[in-house]
Amino acid sequence: MSAWSGWSTEYEGYDAGHERLRETLCTVGNGYFATRGSAPESVADAVHYPGTYVAGLYNAATDVVDGHVVANESMVNLPDWLATGLRWDDGPWFDAGAVELTHYRQQLDLRLGVLVRDLGFRDAAGHSTRVVQRRFAHMEFEHVGALQTTVLAQDWSGTLTLRSVLDGETANAGVARYRELSGKHLRVERAEVLGEGTALVETETVQSRVRIAQAIRTRALRDGAELPCTYRAVAEGACVGHELLLPLEAGRPVTVEKTATLFTGRDPAIVAPAEAATDWLARLDGFDVLLGRHARTWRQLWERCRVDLGGDDEAASVLRLHLFHLLQTVSPNTIGLDAGVPARGLHGEAYRGHVFWDELFVLPALTTRLPHVARSLLEYRYRRLHAARWAARDAGLRGAMFPWQSGADGTETSQRLHLNPDSGHWLSDATHLQRHVGLAVAYNIWQYYQATGDREFAVRHGSEMFLEIARFFGSLAEYDHALDRYRLRGVVGPDEFHTRYPDAAEPGIDDNAYTNVMAVWVLERARTLLRLLPAARREELTEALGLGVEEVDRWGHITQRMFVPFHDDGMISQFAGYEQLHELDWAGLRARHPDIRRLDRILEAEGDDVNRYKASKQADVLMLFYLLSASELRGLLGRLGYAWDPAAIPQVVDYYLARTSHGSTLSAVVHASVLARAHREDALEYFVEALRSDVADVQGGTTAEGVHLAAMAGSLDVLQRCFAGVETRGDVLYLNPYWPVELGRLEFSMTYREHALSVEIADHRVRVSAGPGGHAPIRVRCRGASAVLPPGGQVAFPTHAAPP
Ligand code: BGC
Repeated sequence: MSAWSGWSTEYEGYDAGHERLRETLCTVGNGYFATRGSAPESVADAVHYPGTYVAGLYNAATDVVDGHVVANESMVNLPDWLATGLRWDDGPWFDAGAVELTHYRQQLDLRLGVLVRDLGFRDAAGHSTRVVQRRFAHMEFEHVGALQTTVLAQDWSGTLTLRSVLDGETANAGVARYRELSGKHLRVERAEVLGEGTALVETETVQSRVRIAQAIRTRALRDGAELPCTYRAVAEGACVGHELLLPLEAGRPVTVEKTATLFTGRDPAIVAPAEAATDWLARLDGFDVLLGRHARTWRQLWERCRVDLGGDDEAASVLRLHLFHLLQTVSPNTIGLDAGVPARGLHGEAYRGHVFWDELFVLPALTTRLPHVARSLLEYRYRRLHAARWAARDAGLRGAMFPWQSGADGTETSQRLHLNPDSGHWLSDATHLQRHVGLAVAYNIWQYYQATGDREFAVRHGSEMFLEIARFFGSLAEYDHALDRYRLRGVVGPDEFHTRYPDAAEPGIDDNAYTNVMAVWVLERARTLLRLLPAARREELTEALGLGVEEVDRWGHITQRMFVPFHDDGMISQFAGYEQLHELDWAGLRARHPDIRRLDRILEAEGDDVNRYKASKQADVLMLFYLLSASELRGLLGRLGYAWDPAAIPQVVDYYLARTSHGSTLSAVVHASVLARAHREDALEYFVEALRSDVADVQGGTTAEGVHLAAMAGSLDVLQRCFAGVETRGDVLYLNPYWPVELGRLEFSMTYREHALSVEIADHRVRVSAGPGGHAPIRVRCRGASAVLPPGGQVAFPTHAAPP
């Protein structure tokens, strides 16, 4: 049983079938590393999957599949620092699945950032024992993790053996679909018992050659004082540590603290990982002191990330859980690490820890809370601008072509073959043709500047990336004389179900409306940017990039003549030729299959091909409404010569919604958002669906392989951008709430232009309060009314009921 309430997630009872899902959702992390919520006594098997991952740490392994060489770069699963076995006298090692449990509870305390496991059991001799374990990944000392185990013999006395080890023999084996491919990424370089209670394991990634050092310290306490005990060294190959033999007396709890440090050769400010790991270990305080500092850091983070829904405790709790996992993946500790936004968090191995376009959904939540973290994620892209330039050049194009999937160095890491688990077939995969990832990077740069006013970033790295992305789309655009329009051909849009025309030899579709329109948006903004840049920087940049007047004029021409496909009846087409595709028998399919989200796999297993149908995995055309306001979109299309009326939005939404299987958790986020203004009831339904993405594991088993970070962060964005109507444009903070009064009060904190703001929407009013400080006042607007908000001040506006 699971429950979400207030600041905690709770699981009651042991449930082997859901253990991997719980492990993901009970992950503790700090933006540097994260460790899945696996039982400390468990090893990777059919039920459990311990995993520890460091942000940005990848290794590539090579395999031969169907005669093709396949290289797979993966976020590496590191040795399990939690590994702790328990046994009593001569009994068997404790296994929660093999004893008579009297109670079993797991609680993730979101406020403190602590996972608590509390269990009781009776053994064969009839003895009752209680075990309480608490763990955290330290939010202030990002290289530190700790596990505290308290054992209480309730009605017996004897000896407890606690085996505390670091096991260097790990592999990536968390995703069944990848198991045929190599998962061995580490070589053990050193595994050593260092002293009484301390041990060290050093490993190295086999291809990327990153050195990793992990050290553990284990000590026992009773009544707050160190408890003398026998330490028996364990040195079994790469598995090192100690067995502690502890006298247990009935009714007197014994506590064992295991503290772990973790460093890699990618870390700044160290000489070598092993020295850093042991030096830190020697200086660390005990569990409770560490916990105090950890909790303080979380409290400070929560002050910037507060969210309250007066009327719905469960929804508020799940939203906090989403924020919690977001902050465990990317936090102030990520700054300076050179890590991006892994689609599945640091919580599991799905998508191999790769970075996609998902930051489009993740950055809004960060930009308006922890802008320095958002900036570091944009800098991650900047450092890979060269790789993107080379990719463009290799494709015969100019500018920067950011990869659809990437890991360490920004080269394309998308798989070219993927396994359909429904049919067992390895299929060619053309999703790497999603060129729109660069549009997401550019959009985020623009939004970041709007929300922060960070000119230094915008003028230097931001504008360079932006211009190079614009340049890429400018060079990708081919002029079609017959149409007298520019076209973007051979791409894939956000809907990954359409990667080619039915029966076409080559992959790719033409003129994906989302890509074409957003390319126009980027080109137009790039021209504005060139005008706004300080003259010296503009000259510097245009000279360095070799960007001439002719090229920029061509961009201008593309913003007037890009082709956007429409059906005969005026509906925006997802891509050229979409209208000719068959309608799918949705009802028939639903009758045959309980879950049709991945209908691409279903159809392939039936010998059919999803490319033949008007059927999308996720929002594609509708992404335009997610990113652009109606008037902005009308303006862009109008300039292109298309008389498009925003009154058509509800029809477009209905049309594509009826043809979407929601095979990606991103789908609910986008649909909630676009429906927020038109069909409020439906918007709430999709918002709730976005909230359920991981806690209810809506994609059927995928959360066990990692959280869906974009859906988590996106649910917050829906609340903020759509229901509260927060927009940052020009030098104004806009609020345009559509928050249903019956849902009670909505309150959250956010940062805008260095102001710490608190936004409260209740009783037909929106109130914005600014924290004290010495910043320049900001302008706030709500539905035509405008006010200036100074530091320490407050402004309020009436809200109106949302349109029917
Ligand atoms: C979605 C992509 C997304 C990726 C990683 C896929 O299922 O179709 O849009 O980027 O998952 O989250």
